[in-house]
Amino acid sequence: MTNPKTFHVKSFGCQMNVYDGERMAELLAAQGMEAAEGGEADLVVLNTCHIRERAAEKVYSDIGRLGREDGTRPMIAVAGCVAQAEGAEIPRRAKTVDIVVGPQAYHRLPELVTLAATGAKAIDTDMPTLSKFGALPARRRTGASAFLTVQEGCDKFCTYCVVPYTRGAEVSRGWDAIVEEARALVDAGAREITLLGQNVNAWDDGEGRALHDLIAALDRLPGLERIRYTTSHPNDMREGLIRAHAEVEALMPYLHLPVQSGSDRVLKAMNRSHSRESYLRVIERVRAARPDIALSGDFIVGFPGETDAEFEETLEIVRAVNYAQAYSFKYSPRPGTPAAAMDKQVPAQVMDERLQRLQAAIWAGAQAFNQSTVGRSTRVLLERKGRKPGQLIGKSPWLQSVHVETQAAIGDVIDVDIISAGPNSVGGAERLRAAA
Ligand code: 5AD
Ligand code: SF4
Repeated sequence: MTNPKTFHVKSFGCQMNVYDGERMAELLAAQGMEAAEGGEADLVVLNTCHIRERAAEKVYSDIGRLGREDGTRPMIAVAGCVAQAEGAEIPRRAKTVDIVVGPQAYHRLPELVTLAATGAKAIDTDMPTLSKFGALPARRRTGASAFLTVQEGCDKFCTYCVVPYTRGAEVSRGWDAIVEEARALVDAGAREITLLGQNVNAWDDGEGRALHDLIAALDRLPGLERIRYTTSHPNDMREGLIRAHAEVEALMPYLHLPVQSGSDRVLKAMNRSHSRESYLRVIERVRAARPDIALSGDFIVGFPGETDAEFEETLEIVRAVNYAQAYSFKYSPRPGTPAAAMDKQVPAQVMDERLQRLQAAIWAGAQAFNQSTVGRSTRVLLERKGRKPGQLIGKSPWLQSVHVETQAAIGDVIDVDIISAGPNSVGGAERLRAAA
């Protein structure tokens, strides 16, 4: 195999993977390689997700599809959380895989490519103490809305979750590196930055500064209009961050705060370390600070031992909170996690039924939320082209997708009246300002 000249990075799973995928692409571009479409690239990087079984299985079917009609194939790298979890097992199971690189080691991708070009299998799933971030090239390209990882890993050990094993211990990036990267993203055209972390609200600099201090600093960056952060843990929603929602105009009124279950017994078995009540109290405080905040959450149905009555408590919490949006998943046993070895795994059919009922409740809530915004005037950050000519799609402060006809450009923030609502998006009419 020769040294590749073109590459394609395909990311699955969470936003942090999207971020890592962008950084890998920048790293390969800095080596003089060019981006190409998936089927044509000399090197294909599959940046994988291990959070649920289906996500992990997808990797192997994707690898199988990378062969070309003429019998050749690209150099194949498996990155991300499946790489971390399965390591050398991957090329044993899928012989065409040349490179396996974990989420904390991808700054070494260029060396691994060189090694793989000699015909060797190149595997690196180290979790080095010196972070990859220092070894990555500066940010140069971005869309109107950019991700910025500030915190990685997790020490919470929810009993169902692989993240503490695939991403490692909780680590916060340093203040200066983050502010510098934010500035580079703004210079490259970002108008919005979403701070990312598995427990982003646990970010601290070790010297007493917390996430709200970082948000306040980014608020002062000229050219940056909007700040968001995700994903947060209910126990790390501190007073300063809640107050920031009242005080920092650039901090958007949206909070993704997973609860996972409405049952205290299940929450305990999940090792969530918060109760239904304490979660609801956090929500109350956030709403007191920012009454129009849009809330979102994650739910797992069919955790081992979950009874019908306990599932009903989850439906109740969905109704009690009034989420603007939420994500729900069937419990998936992950190898090596405590929950995978628990008794009373819930039958697939019961899980299916619970998921359907939960999704119907979430859908109704999303529809109601979107409907409640009809008639409001708001600001929309334009992010991409819509399907219809002259139409662009942007985001409202509440993270709704807004479809609007406009002459404005991607990256502009325009005034819009929300005029119609569906479960997944709203329609807007641009409010044209009278000429001065
Ligand atoms: N099974 C199902 N859903 C899971 N999640 C995490 N681990 C699992 C699992 N083993 C969900 C949680 C989490 C989201 C990112 O994925 O709801 O918040
Ligand atoms: Fe997984 Fe989130 Fe729990 Fe960490 S806090 S173990 S990422 S669910």
